[in-house]
Amino acid sequence: MGLTVPAYAKLNLTLEVLGKRPDGYHELHSLMCSLALHDSVRLELAPEIAVRCSLPELAGPGNLAHRAAFLLQAATNYQGGTMISIEKRIPVAGGLGGGSSDAAATLTGLNRLWDTGLSGEALGSLAAQLGSDVPFCLAGGVALASGRGEILRPLPPLPPVTILLVHPPIQVSTASIYSALTPDGYGDGMASERLATLAYATPPEEWPLVNALQPVTLRAYPLVGKVLELLRDLGAAPVLMCGSGPTCFGFFETTERAKEGARTARDRGWEAWVTAPIGGQL
Ligand code: C5P
Repeated sequence: MGLTVPAYAKLNLTLEVLGKRPDGYHELHSLMCSLALHDSVRLELAPEIAVRCSLPELAGPGNLAHRAAFLLQAATNYQGGTMISIEKRIPVAGGLGGGSSDAAATLTGLNRLWDTGLSGEALGSLAAQLGSDVPFCLAGGVALASGRGEILRPLPPLPPVTILLVHPPIQVSTASIYSALTPDGYGDGMASERLATLAYATPPEEWPLVNALQPVTLRAYPLVGKVLELLRDLGAAPVLMCGSGPTCFGFFETTERAKEGARTARDRGWEAWVTAPIGGQL
């Protein structure tokens, strides 16, 4: 017996850091949305918890999905396990919350497969123990996130936008980017509030997108600057880095132009995907 759950990539349209907290995390305001690009998480009943993955280096107990299953098992005293098989499509350590989303999909799917009957709220508190982005990935859709990312105000689906994601072949540690952030990168969180209104009233090319981590990642990985430059040259507007990077994205007026852009990026040896917020065009 088993089921397959889609694990959608998350995109930060804004990522504002208000300051550093006593617990070491940073206080955020971020407008996040789920993208159609997704991993697939297959869950089957098994005596023990185990993780297989299309990228073999991500298999095993170190995977966040394994920890998600273990946490749900412990919280509900469920007497059994699961074989978790993850088909990866979201770039690893790419700034798109792939690992967080696989963990969230594991929580949602196992709560059904194991018939453990936890409420959305109870699953949300397990998600927050797994990582700052996991509660959003569990809820999905569009939300204004605050706290360390786990306090969510749900928003309506975004108007259709065609998005090109370009991922250069580097992996970025989120913790190292946050630790290199200095107070001059802090903001007041108002850009996220503004976008939460403007996104429903103005064309996407005019949306005020911002990412406080972008200058930090750019300093450490100049290649990310080249990716942003390519997106601008291809006519995307606006363009921005995803989360802590290194993936970058841009909005295109048509899917055809975005697909052309994807071909150009791939010619440079970078991965590229044309996608859209869930409920958008694709
Ligand atoms: O919560 P998660 O484990 O995904 O976060 C990874 C790292 O990113 C944390 O260890 C922390 O260094 C940094 N972080 C932060 N403030 C946040 C979210 C993440 O400083 N709100």
